[in-house]
Amino acid sequence: MKRITTNDIRRMKSEGQAIPMVTAYDYTAARLVTEAGIPMILVGDSMGQTMLGHDSTLPVTVEDIVRASAAVVRGAPQALVVADMPFMSYQVSREEALHNAGRLVKEGGAQAVKLEGGGPVLDSVRALDAAGIAVMGHLGLTPQSVHKLGGYRVQGTSPATAQELLDDALRLQDAGVFAIVLELVPVEVAEAVTARLTIPTIGIGSGIACDGQVQVWHDILGLSLDFQPKHSKIFADVGATIREALSAYSEGVRERTFPTEAETVHAKDPVVLDDEAEAGGITPLRRTRRG
Ligand code: KIV
Repeated sequence: MKRITTNDIRRMKSEGQAIPMVTAYDYTAARLVTEAGIPMILVGDSMGQTMLGHDSTLPVTVEDIVRASAAVVRGAPQALVVADMPFMSYQVSREEALHNAGRLVKEGGAQAVKLEGGGPVLDSVRALDAAGIAVMGHLGLTPQSVHKLGGYRVQGTSPATAQELLDDALRLQDAGVFAIVLELVPVEVAEAVTARLTIPTIGIGSGIACDGQVQVWHDILGLSLDFQPKHSKIFADVGATIREALSAYSEGVRERTFPTEAETVHAKDPVVLDDEAEAGGITPLRRTRRG
């Protein structure tokens, strides 16, 4: 099976094909994404909330993303797997960015990395590009800056901040990124940026005009138990199905209706335990599966 490349993703924009992308953090999810034919997977630092129960992405470590990426890559032989660079894994210096991105690619097996921000990360993007590492940008709401931004708010709402966002997008494109996530920006701004870039924009909460869309696994499957973002849609309430299944299992155990004969194995030979042997008794032979 041939793996999708960054060139394929760029070609999808030039051919006017919309690009679906979803997060995944484990092998099983990656298998299911592959079966759905989704070309791009993000091993997002949203795992901080969705998988680890933190209230932000900030505590996520390079180790967390490396391990999750390796599992996702094993489950997704076709998709382009993008690994998020966690908070403070690329902001300190170009050298640290190179070292940590290298780990995501070498140990995590990711085909690309994603980092957040514009001007301050350009040097690192150029260094990663020069080292042969494919990079995805991320503008608009950048969750790793949640405290500086004062919350998870829509970005680029004024003419000045919209212009700044476009300038950052053009600089990132020049620095070598193959695509840019636009998170929580007004649809008009996303449309203007998308029209001015040759690389694809992948929107989340930024309307229909982006070249593709990315969503968080838990948000589209009814698994976000603490918070359901307004920009997301539950395509199937898997959470409700899981709840029902777990209740049914628990009831089966409590009422001793599970396991049944169908889930039971029998010994082939008579079972004689020491105390019974001493007493000369033999446990009656029960029917085996073979008859
Ligand atoms: O970590 C993540 O899931 C992301 C998406 C919100 C784009 O960065």
